[in-house]
Amino acid sequence: MAFVVTENCIKCKYTDCVDVCPVDCFHEGPNFLVIDPDECIDCTLCEPECPANAIFAEDEVPADQQQFIALNAELAKSWPTISEVSPAPADADEWNGKTGKMQYLER
Ligand code: SF4
Ligand code: F3S
Repeated sequence: MAFVVTENCIKCKYTDCVDVCPVDCFHEGPNFLVIDPDECIDCTLCEPECPANAIFAEDEVPADQQQFIALNAELAKSWPTISEVSPAPADADEWNGKTGKMQYLER
């Protein structure tokens, strides 16, 4: 099992999660982060750190977010590792909690 980043990270990308991950398994895209399921050691540390509540254990991913399990695995293969916190987008708080953000995912 692994932890999974879901839709509410899109356009929020606070990166607080990166700071606590002991194995650097987060990978960064233009406006979203993913977790490499092959690197995640299930330590649970990142889940409570996300201000957008976007991180779930794989077996707790909401029914309408299931596609993000495969998406994290896919994008982690091509996106670079991120291991340091970086500033969130200026409008991150405005996007926090908005639905239908999948259409804004940049690859
Ligand atoms: Fe990293 Fe632990 Fe989160 Fe997995 S559960 S992504 S190892 S902080
Ligand atoms: Fe995204 Fe939350 Fe990390 S918004 S970048 S999963 S802290």
